[in-house]
Amino acid sequence: MTPSLTIAIDGPAASGKGTIARQVAVRYGLRHLDTGLLYRAVAVLCAREGVTLEDAAAAGQRAAHLVPADLEGDGLRSAAAGRGASVVAAHPSVRASLLRWQRDFAEKAPGAVLDGRDIGTVVLPDARAKLFITADPDVRAARRWRELSASRDIAYRDVLRDIEERDARDAARTNAPMRQADDAILLDTTDMTIKAAVAEAVRLIDTRLAV
Ligand code: DC
Repeated sequence: MTPSLTIAIDGPAASGKGTIARQVAVRYGLRHLDTGLLYRAVAVLCAREGVTLEDAAAAGQRAAHLVPADLEGDGLRSAAAGRGASVVAAHPSVRASLLRWQRDFAEKAPGAVLDGRDIGTVVLPDARAKLFITADPDVRAARRWRELSASRDIAYRDVLRDIEERDARDAARTNAPMRQADDAILLDTTDMTIKAAVAEAVRLIDTRLAV
């Protein structure tokens, strides 16, 4: 069975892809999955159960038994969960389990928008439209810093370092690295407001859906 419509939105940390994906899903009447949450949930489960993030077999076990409630837990959005997610995301056993999860989600009618790092390249290679959202690292760090500093004291330089380390790890892993798919459209949001970025994303997706 082919899903009615799938849209893949990839990009580095704090590029705006999550906000764009959420609003694109509303615009086209689709379901939305923030796939980073799956990796974050695996990292949080490992931390809670005292399992080291480098233990591929143990992390793979957590990924294989992930349930929707795990995606709603406290702390998933923290910087530590993001860092941990990037570490467990390098384990092939984790990626294999989460791949099934993501495809099952996307296959259900009426289709879905998935955002992540490898959606256009690995998870949904046949997506009807693919975007790769990016922005300069300092702009991404400033956005993330504004978000995080609302609830706690955090230094901008730490946020920037965190983002740069995460980008490097996500792009360097051998298994499904972060990469723009050959048929994805690049959208650089460095000089855009979120409203303008969403409007441009919809315009670009419309051009693909019209083909
Ligand atoms: O999008 P995010 O910041 O919530 O993602 C957290 C980490 O999860 C990211 O640094 C790498 C990993 N991830 C991945 O490897 N593949 C995806 N499709 C989504 C996230």
